[in-house]
Amino acid sequence: MTDLTVPQQLIARSNRLGSDPKNTNYAGGNTSAKGTETDPVTGQPVELVWVKGSGGDLGTLKEAGLAVLRLDRMRALVDVYPGIEREDEMVAAFDYCLHGKGGAAPSIDTAMHGLVDAAHVDHLHPDSGIAIATAADGEALTSKIYGDKVVWVPWRRPGFQLGLDIAAIKEKNPQAVGCILGGHGITAWGDTSDEAEANSLWIIDTAAAYIAENSKAEPFGPALDGYGALPEAERRAKAAALAGTIRGIASKDRPMVGHFTDSDVVLDFLAAAEHPRLAALGTSCPDHFLRTKVKPLVLDLPASASVEDSIARLKELHEAYREDYQGYYDRNATADSPAIRGADPLIVLVPGVGMFSFGKDKQTARVAGEFYTNAINVMRGAEGLSTYAPIDEAEKFRIEYWALEEAKLQRMPKPKPLASRIALITGAAGGIGKATAKKLAAEGACVVIADLNLEKAQAAAAEIGGADVALGVAADVSDEVAVQAAIDAAVLAFGGIDLVVNNAGLSLSKSLLDTTGEDFDLQHRVMAKGSFLVSKAAAKVMIDQEMGGDIVYISSKNSVFAGPNNIAYSATKANQAHQVRLLAAELGAHGIKVNGVNPDGVVQGSGIFASGWGANRAAVYGVEEKDLGKFYAQRTILKKEVLPEHIANAVFVLCGPEMTHTTGLHVPVDAGVAAAFLR
Ligand SMILES: NC(=O)c1ccc[n+]([C@@H]2O[C@H](COP(=O)([O-])OP(=O)(O)OC[C@H]3O[C@@H](n4cnc5c(N)ncnc54)[C@H](O)[C@@H]3O)[C@@H](O)[C@H]2O)c1
Ligand SMILES: [Zn+2]
Repeated sequence: MTDLTVPQQLIARSNRLGSDPKNTNYAGGNTSAKGTETDPVTGQPVELVWVKGSGGDLGTLKEAGLAVLRLDRMRALVDVYPGIEREDEMVAAFDYCLHGKGGAAPSIDTAMHGLVDAAHVDHLHPDSGIAIATAADGEALTSKIYGDKVVWVPWRRPGFQLGLDIAAIKEKNPQAVGCILGGHGITAWGDTSDEAEANSLWIIDTAAAYIAENSKAEPFGPALDGYGALPEAERRAKAAALAGTIRGIASKDRPMVGHFTDSDVVLDFLAAAEHPRLAALGTSCPDHFLRTKVKPLVLDLPASASVEDSIARLKELHEAYREDYQGYYDRNATADSPAIRGADPLIVLVPGVGMFSFGKDKQTARVAGEFYTNAINVMRGAEGLSTYAPIDEAEKFRIEYWALEEAKLQRMPKPKPLASRIALITGAAGGIGKATAKKLAAEGACVVIADLNLEKAQAAAAEIGGADVALGVAADVSDEVAVQAAIDAAVLAFGGIDLVVNNAGLSLSKSLLDTTGEDFDLQHRVMAKGSFLVSKAAAKVMIDQEMGGDIVYISSKNSVFAGPNNIAYSATKANQAHQVRLLAAELGAHGIKVNGVNPDGVVQGSGIFASGWGANRAAVYGVEEKDLGKFYAQRTILKKEVLPEHIANAVFVLCGPEMTHTTGLHVPVDAGVAAAFLR
């Protein structure tokens, strides 16, 4: 330990603390260390403070995530501090305290770390500590649990004044190792890094142990008849059936990606009598408001309620939620408040089923769910000992619509063209399908890769990204039950579906006389029927969402071109091509566009070509199989070889932000084949 530099010690401690969810929520809290280095300008020693910068996560923090400030200048801010009404100005002043380039941007909590007179400081958001911090008698509980070793600090919005408060308390209480910050979390300190860490853990574990020993038996009240968890299979099926409607509810003002959680923590909360009262009180920790909104939307029907009744009630509750949220905004907004950021819920709770959480991307949606789980843990602890008493509405609003938070949001990079869109691509373990999934993911979409073989589908998904980007599922598109299961898996993974690519296929090249009835059926089962089944199941979700959508068929040049030895394949490709027009006509009323791509001669990466068709074609044309791509290129008008990426690009254009007014179209991607021109 001793041979680590001060910032290295700080990183090691932060990673240890941040990687255990009992200590703090994702990206919540911050840590700091003070030490001396030689100032390269003067050659003299200079006192510095390293502190976690804005936005980072303790569990994965690296040195680049630390802000580095000169302690003398940071502390000199006390002399120019104009008072609490203008405390936000001090954040800009931190920039004038930076050492060298300063590292990461200093966060709002920098004052607390710099002003407190201790070499090492941890500020954390542990569920156990916040339970004490949000108990109605939190101050009394703090002294009962910790004696004078931990001091109560009444709620104050994070900022320069809170830093001054904590510094004063530490000075007045030399015996104290930390404090409970009312409505918010904990802060602990130490002379060494190990001492600070031990003090943090002691405060957290002591609170948890006290709650475990002293909590009443049923903190959320007795079980509510009919509100217990449904059996897993039933619960997941109901969740999937409701997902489209719920995503539409969360996305009325702006499109959202979803995350579903049916953990015991969530299901137990929803099964108990007090959950409606507690949910209405809302969350408390300042980290939570932007991610979860002040409160969730809670379906007030038992687990046994039908999908139809649940949908009807959810829609009523959504209207009420929006009015309520608008009222909250109007009551609290001042002339200089940022504009309302949408009035839809980010957390939707369904008794017996689970929690849907939402965000601009999958990671944000998942973390919102984690935060609400933290909030449930906090409420359980607080109600077990006392009464849960979060900060009041006006303070919640001051955090949610804080000018500094708004500035952070404005600094976010522009979203990618397909951000928030959820795509399902069939037959995407290889070839054109995989190239399409890759392209859509690169443009910001979440992608679900459906193919016959689960391992191959998962391998393709892993190649594209982690679980927040890509999911692999097994599905034979000709099997209605399997198709529904794939759609359900997609909506449970990402909240819904916006974009479907009917790509799964196979190809038999036989003369009429050689084509068996089964050959014909197989081609039609996978392509015509398979894409019909996928379009049908996906359109149901899209219609429920009321967010429009896109369906793209990977048809073929052969849907219009007539040649020998192709009766089964080309007939079913023509069927797919007409499905495009039929569904474009029918689904337009729901804002769903349906288009097709007609590829030709894609040899590279194509399983169809690798499994005999290529050898057969090469033999027919008298070329070597490896030269087939080049041979096809020479037959085209542009004399270019068509690659899977070219098909993928066309799919993106059809679904992307520019092609908003086109439906029922087929785009040839064949380097120019006059015989397949559309007219
Ligand atoms: N390669 C070309 O030149 C070309 C030309 C025109 C049209 N197409 C069409 O493009 C699509 C993709 O072809 P590719 O060339 O990438 O071939 P490919 O064989 O590489 O990909 C097809 C994928 O579909 C999957 N699949 C087959 N049957 C399935 C089923 N019942 N359920 C789910 N998945 C199934 C396969 O496992 C495979 O991963 C096909 O519809 C094909 O007809 C290809
Ligand atoms: Zn905090």
